[in-house]
Amino acid sequence: MAKQQGSYATSYDAGDGVKLKVPYSFFGSKFDGQELNAIREVLQGETFTMGPQVQAFQKEFAAFCGTKYAFAVSNGTVACALAVDLLDLKPGDEVITTPITFIATSIELLRRGAVPVFADVQYETHNIDPASIRQKVTKKTRAIVVVHYGTQMCDMDEIMAIAREHKLLVVEDAAHTPGATYKGKKAGSIGDIGCFSFHPLKNMTTFEGGMLTFSRDDFADKIIPLRCIGLQSYKNQKDYWLPYHYDVVEVNGVLGNNYRMDEVRAAVGRIQLRKLDAFNAKRLELTNYVNGRLAGTDGIAVPTWAPDRTQVCYLFNPRYKLHARGFPKDDFLRILYYEEGVQAILHYLPNYLFSVYRERGYKPGLCPVAEKVFFEETMTLPMHPRFTHEQLDQMADGIRNAARKIQERGGKAAAAKGKKRVEQKIAKKKAK
Ligand SMILES: Cc1ncc(COP(=O)(O)O)c(C=O)c1O
Repeated sequence: MAKQQGSYATSYDAGDGVKLKVPYSFFGSKFDGQELNAIREVLQGETFTMGPQVQAFQKEFAAFCGTKYAFAVSNGTVACALAVDLLDLKPGDEVITTPITFIATSIELLRRGAVPVFADVQYETHNIDPASIRQKVTKKTRAIVVVHYGTQMCDMDEIMAIAREHKLLVVEDAAHTPGATYKGKKAGSIGDIGCFSFHPLKNMTTFEGGMLTFSRDDFADKIIPLRCIGLQSYKNQKDYWLPYHYDVVEVNGVLGNNYRMDEVRAAVGRIQLRKLDAFNAKRLELTNYVNGRLAGTDGIAVPTWAPDRTQVCYLFNPRYKLHARGFPKDDFLRILYYEEGVQAILHYLPNYLFSVYRERGYKPGLCPVAEKVFFEETMTLPMHPRFTHEQLDQMADGIRNAARKIQERGGKAAAAKGKKRVEQKIAKKKAK
């Protein structure tokens, strides 16, 4: 087989021959003729990176979020990394963050020699728990990096109060929640810095892409060189070539890199931004629909939503409640997958359980709520603005059936039976 050279599919197809009724991803394009026209216009022009489309995208995104600035970058991981670069951390400085997130939230902290300190999450929302943050603040704490997980924003009033009290900066990783609001304020506008991802699975996409939002002028002065290999204009340049076209600087002890966004992606991003509220509303409508279909299912709880914030329904996370009653979650997922053809995936292994953290001495048990939620209850089912009610019915039926079957047949045996049946089917097919 040809080497893939590091590529991987965004499909979760396990290649195991299981015929899926409801796969995790791919329910149709998120684009239409508007994006095609926008791309065509860029291709017919003369500027392909960091030109008028990027400028306009940034301006429109900042206006959308209610911040003074937005800076487009090449992806959400880079947005998180640049946010950390703005924190001006010294080795050994501590930053409190959540374990239930994509690793991009904290990886730059490790790279910079800072110490990620994991606060536990709230049982109901999976968002970082302000009470746990408070317990983890020490003299070395410099910042809090929160993640608005899945659909709704964190308890920002409480988090900002802790930050003010201890003079800490706050980064909002809003990769899951573009357009979400908390008491009327947009994600990415409450903390000192907001980070967004426009990965293809996100609520709005530029294929790869990301954005930083903030309102501080000094941050803008720093991001400009950091995003573009340290390049900076000379302050008192006489002629445009004297002493040279540009200077190269370091920012907070960090050398810049090329994190720019190109014009095609910015043009697509502008169209997607215009559609974002409609995408979010559609996701909410579909999530409400499937929640309604799942209501009353023994062993399944629908997600809990706080009343003072909006839901953008990036992830759909019904809760599995039978683990505690002796029916392991993994076995339920096996029945769901092998017998019902419904593909759930998991978000997120508490990050300190990854090798990069374990090798640095982080141990299981650090955040008991996050571990309980992850190992016993949570699962992510697909959600997409182009889902049909028919597909959602299939998904809800699959979940209901799996919850019933596991109880009727009893955990492990049931799951093993389902898997065996599929393996036999595949073997038969191969033999033909
Ligand atoms: C919470 C969170 N932060 C950051 C990122 C990184 O974004 P990207 O994939 O665009 O690099 C993601 C992406 O999945 C994410 O979910």
